[in-house]
Amino acid sequence: MQLVDHITPARQPSADSVTAPPPVPGLAVRLRGVKRTFTAELAPVRALRGVDLDVPGGDFLAVMGPSGSGKSTLLNIVAGLDPADEGSVEVAGERVDGRHENHLARFRRRHIGLVFQFFNLLDGVSALDNLIMPGVLAGLRRTAAEARARDLLDLLGLADRTHRVPAVLSGGQRQRLAIARALVNRPTLLLADEPTGALDSEGGVEILELFRRLHHDGQTIVMVTHSADVAAGARRVVRMRDGRIEPEQTR
Ligand SMILES: Nc1ncnc2c1ncn2[C@@H]1O[C@H](COP(=O)(O)OP(=O)(O)O)[C@@H](O)[C@H]1O
Ligand SMILES: [Mg+2]
Repeated sequence: MQLVDHITPARQPSADSVTAPPPVPGLAVRLRGVKRTFTAELAPVRALRGVDLDVPGGDFLAVMGPSGSGKSTLLNIVAGLDPADEGSVEVAGERVDGRHENHLARFRRRHIGLVFQFFNLLDGVSALDNLIMPGVLAGLRRTAAEARARDLLDLLGLADRTHRVPAVLSGGQRQRLAIARALVNRPTLLLADEPTGALDSEGGVEILELFRRLHHDGQTIVMVTHSADVAAGARRVVRMRDGRIEPEQTR
């Protein structure tokens, strides 16, 4: 079975399952002239100074750059979590900039899976419940949400951790669980901000391998990292410096 089935469905979704989004025709992400300035005590911080970026559907892009170069700001804007001050933001062919918060919440549920450095899991509940909850919040019936959750635990090698709480899992397992949660709603775009930043090198390799598998199955991924080793696992790398994307190297 495929990990990602919105590009080429492995099976027809049942009436109870999450409706798979259509494949992204052309670009999954298109940014033009994106600027973002934060007000700070001493002087305004120009976090993004005019970013153009195209991410084709199915790509696996790593965004590298030193701390403070604007990587997280970029990811948050693509996710519709933070507004651009100027420029246009298109995700899955849809304009994201200038939209109302209610629209953005729906947009995120439908199109965006988010993974963070520190997992952001619910500590008090099992691995299974960590995955059921987002499905239910997205409108799945509990039985369908549980079936999806169990599929993902299986596919991500966590089936024997189904009833464990995050605290007893290794860092790598926790991050795999967080990735499973991000995939519950079959997002158009998986966005990861320093997903290996809190892991030892073994855990980091595990996550990178998983991303490579997901990419192979058609998942579009944008991963922020400051590690050259981690970025080298992506299909394409762009570098940021001082709020700008540097001229690109394609491999
Ligand atoms: N909410 C905010 N308020 C004020 N300044 C911010 C905010 N978010 C980010 N910044 C500043 O914007 C710049 C870019 O930050 P960020 O995008 O987090 O960089 P990176 O993820 O590459 O480390 C930094 O100088 C940071 O301090
Ligand atoms: Mg950051």
